[in-house]
Formats: sequence, structure tokens, C-alpha cells
Amino acid sequence: MSDQSSMPAAPGVLPSGNATADSAADNFVQVVDVVKKFGETAAVKGVNLSVKKGELFALLGSSGCGKSTLLRMLAGLETVTSGKILIDGEDLAMLPPYRRPVNMMFQSYALFPHMTVESNVGFGLRQEGVKKAELKDRVAAALELVQMSRFAKRKPHQLSGGQQQRVALARSLVKRPKLLLLDEPMSALDKQIRQRTQIELVNILENVGVTCIMVTHDQEEAMTMADRLAVMSEGQIVQLGAPNQVYEFPNSRFSAEFIGSTNLFEGNVVEDEPDHVFVESPDLSVRLYVSHGITGPLGMPVTISVRPERIALTRKPPEGTFNWGKGVVKNVAYMGGYSLYHVQLESGKTVIANMSSLALSEIDSPTWEDEVYVRWSASAGVVLTS
Ligand SMILES: Nc1ncnc2c1ncn2[C@@H]1O[C@H](COP(=O)(O)OP(=O)(O)OP(=O)(O)O)[C@@H](O)[C@H]1O
Ligand SMILES: [Mg+2]
Repeated sequence: MSDQSSMPAAPGVLPSGNATADSAADNFVQVVDVVKKFGETAAVKGVNLSVKKGELFALLGSSGCGKSTLLRMLAGLETVTSGKILIDGEDLAMLPPYRRPVNMMFQSYALFPHMTVESNVGFGLRQEGVKKAELKDRVAAALELVQMSRFAKRKPHQLSGGQQQRVALARSLVKRPKLLLLDEPMSALDKQIRQRTQIELVNILENVGVTCIMVTHDQEEAMTMADRLAVMSEGQIVQLGAPNQVYEFPNSRFSAEFIGSTNLFEGNVVEDEPDHVFVESPDLSVRLYVSHGITGPLGMPVTISVRPERIALTRKPPEGTFNWGKGVVKNVAYMGGYSLYHVQLESGKTVIANMSSLALSEIDSPTWEDEVYVRWSASAGVVLTS
């Protein structure tokens, strides 16, 4: 929602004393050394994170990695075992539940089945004792925002999944939280509605200007929606950044494989200069060349990640002495505007290339068992050392 180009390369760093107005906005939500143990098992193992005011931040990771637990601690529904959480400078643990400036929308939406849409949305305000006229206005405005005004008198069972989701969102926003937490907000929706809803939701949140932390295990969803995201694994954040940063510069095999699909070549560094490295890999008969240096000794084992859309197929042997392989087409997955080619190299390694229909027409669309070459440029690969 905010301008991604102005974001620092290594966000998530905590401020050091004398806070300025800028750093207060940069550190609107601060998670400091947070640990959560359930008995002997630690679900969250020392997480540090700061989220900017107005930002849409996504927590991403495989099942059981601690996403919901972290979110529930941010909501104040779960206490921290150690560490602390600050929201707008206030320690969450010190605030009684009714003063916590947070609202969480649950995966199940948790609408009251016997209440109409408008009663559901107004429920929290009635609890707070908001006056009737104001309540009516705020509910109407919230329903308008999610385009559900004409369903105000319906009950939840008379709504589709996507409509229920919007009612739940209106119910969260009507209380004007400083921080909105969404746990798998789209999981009840099918793929088509989901994609449309993702864009709608981003627009609504942008209009309201609320800071939002969202949990998802769908990496495409996180990439489309979030300003920044954190990849979690086993209770820890393994990488944090803007979606394009994490996608283009994964810092580990885990990140590279989790965010998008990729081709991984394992090998050893045989030449390391400030501006390039050569790697020899049993997967390829030629060397791999990457146009950036690394820190580490010669011979060091590394993995090179090359995204499928960076790989080109050719019928003729490439001319260069690096970054190509000869193989046979083993599978073609037609995806509409592009196709995924699975090419088995002579080494046995399978490489996946993402080819646009246009690019394929230029090489007379290879098919099963055709002999082809894969190649990629010096800037296509990223060297991973962990
Ligand atoms: N109340 C609890 N008591 C004991 N263990 C728990 C409790 N809540 C969560 N856990 C454990 O903590 C770990 C993290 O759970 P969490 O619900 O945060 O995962 P998640 O990342 O949200 O996963 P999913 O994508 O499946 O929702 C899991 O191993 C889970 O079994
Ligand atoms: Mg969860």
C-alpha cells in the first residue's frame, strides 16, 4: 500500500533510542524477542519484527511454523512467554483487553448466525455503548465500504462465502482499530473469487489507511497483497522484505523454494571474483556463471537458484561456455498464456522453463521427447550459501 521503492533493503530492525516521528511511524508495531512456548515446545522462537504505519504486512510459512500463534499474541489472545509487543508505542501486555487498539478477523469469520448482517457489524459498537445514531452511521459506512449495504437485513447463512468474508471485515473495521489482524482471510473462498477479493481487500484497507498484518500460507496471495512479507520457518523469521526483493534475492534455499518455484543447481565455487563466480555442478556439463561475487572460500558448496521464467529453450546449441544444458522435453504443462517445460538434462537433472506462447511460436513449440537446450543469462542466477 505504501511506496515499495522507498523501503530500506534490510527492514525489521528495531530503533535505537531517541525516536523521531519517522521512526515512530516505521515502528508502529514492534515485536521484540518474542518467544512462545506451549509446555516444552516453542511455537515462536525469538521473533523481531517492526511493521510500519499503514502497511499491509504478510506472515507466510508452512503449516505449524507459528504464524497463527504470533498473530494471536499480537491480538492479545495469547500471552508471550518472553519478549514484548508494542503497538503505537504502548506495551500490549500493560493494556486491558478493551483498550487494545487491535481487531482480529478469524479464519472462520465467526459471524453470529442468528443476527442480521447489520447487527453483526454493529455488535462491537453496541457492547461499547456507542449511541444509536452514531452506531447506525458507522455501520452503514462500514457496509458501504465493503459493498454489502443491500444485504444489511440478511442473516449469514443467506450469504456466499465471499459475502460473509466482507461482513466479517466490516465488523473488524467498524471499530476503527489501529491494527487489523487477518488470519488466512481468503481460505474459505475458491480460487477465482479469492483473486478478485485480494484486490478488493487491498483497496479497502488502503482507503481506510489501517495497518494490517495478515497470515497466509499462499505465497501468491502474499506477493499480490503485501507491501512487505516475512517468511517463517519453525517459529523463526528466515527472510523479510518487499515481495519482489524476496522473490528476486532469496537468502536461502528455503526462501527460494517457498516463494515461487525455482531450479536449484548444487555445486562448488571454482572461481570467485568481486563481480562474478564460477560454479561447477554435476548437474551441468558446462560451468555456472553468476554475475555477482560471494563471501566464502574456493571450493565452498553452494546452490544456484534460477527461476523458470529466466530460462530459455532453444533448438540449436547455445554458443557460450556456461549456463546451458542439453536435454529432452519430458513434460509440457499448458497454462494458458505460457507453458511450463520440464526438460531432463543428460545428467538426469530436470530443469523447468517457463515459456510464453510468443517465445514458443518462435522456436516451433517443442513437444514431448524433442531434443532441446536450456540456457540462461549471467544475471539470472542467485548464489545461495544456506
Ligand atoms: N494451544 C496450543 N497448545 C499446544 N501447542 C500449540 C497450541 N497452539 C499451537 N500449538 C503448536 O504450535 C505450533 C505453531 O502453531 P500455529 O497454529 O502457530 O501454526 P501456523 O503456522 O498457524 O500453522 P497453520 O498454517 O497450519 O495454521 C504447532 O506445532 C502447534 O501444534
Ligand atoms: Mg494458523
